[in-house]
Amino acid sequence: MTRWYRERKQDYYYREAKKEGFRARSSFKLIQIHNRYGILRKGGTFIDLGASPGGWSQIAARYGKVIAIDLKPMQEIKNVTFLQEDITSNDIIKKLREIVGKVDAVISDASPNISGNYTMDQARSVWLCENALKIAEEFLKQGGNFLCKIFEGEDYPEFLEKVRKKFKMVKPHAPKASRKQSSEIYIVAKGFIDKAKMSDTLKN
Ligand SMILES: C[S@@+](CC[C@H](N)C(=O)[O-])C[C@H]1O[C@@H](n2cnc3c(N)ncnc32)[C@H](O)[C@@H]1O
Repeated sequence: MTRWYRERKQDYYYREAKKEGFRARSSFKLIQIHNRYGILRKGGTFIDLGASPGGWSQIAARYGKVIAIDLKPMQEIKNVTFLQEDITSNDIIKKLREIVGKVDAVISDASPNISGNYTMDQARSVWLCENALKIAEEFLKQGGNFLCKIFEGEDYPEFLEKVRKKFKMVKPHAPKASRKQSSEIYIVAKGFIDKAKMSDTLKN
C-alpha cells in the first residue's frame, strides 16, 4: 500500500468519525471487531479500560451499561459511568467492586504514552494488558468476553498464552481501521472460563 493511499485511508476514518459524531476514529475498530466476533451482548454491562476520549464507550453504550476508566478525564456519555483512575493501581479492583458486579465484557484500548523507545513502550503495553486481564478475571461472568490492545514484541506471545488458558476462543486480530504501519494488535477472547466458579460447581 502506498503512503498516499494509507494517508487517504486514515483520513477517511477521521472524516467518517466526525460525520457519525464519534469522539475518536478508534470507534471504527471496535465496530469492526464487534461485527466480526460479537463482543458486546445486547443489554449487557461492560468495563472499558483506557476509555478517554470515549470512542469505544460511545459504541458499547449502544448495547448496554458501561463503566469507563481512564487516567485522563472524559466528557459525559449516556449509559456510561466514568472513573478517572489508573487501571494499574493497587486499589482499582476495590473501587470497581463498589460500583459494579459481574460484567459481560472487559474491553481495553489502553496505550502507554509513546516514549519512542519501542522496547520500553511494548513492555508498558503488556503491563497495561496484564492489569486489564486481572480486572477481566475478577469481573467477567462465566462465558464473558475480553478484548485487549497490545503492542507486538518480545512479551506478546507469553501474554497471548496466558489469555488462551482462560478463554475458550482466542484470536489476535488487526482491524482494518488500525494504521497499517502500527504494531498494535487486538487480542479477541471469548468464553471466559471462571475456574473459581467451576470448582464451586464441582464441590456442590
Ligand atoms: C488510544 S487511547 C483510547 C481511545 C479510546 N478507546 C477511544 O475510543 O476513545 C488510550 C488511552 O489509554 C489511557 N491509559 C494509559 N494508561 C492508563 C492507565 N494506567 N490507566 C488508565 N488509562 C490509561 C490513556 O490515557 C489514553 O486515553
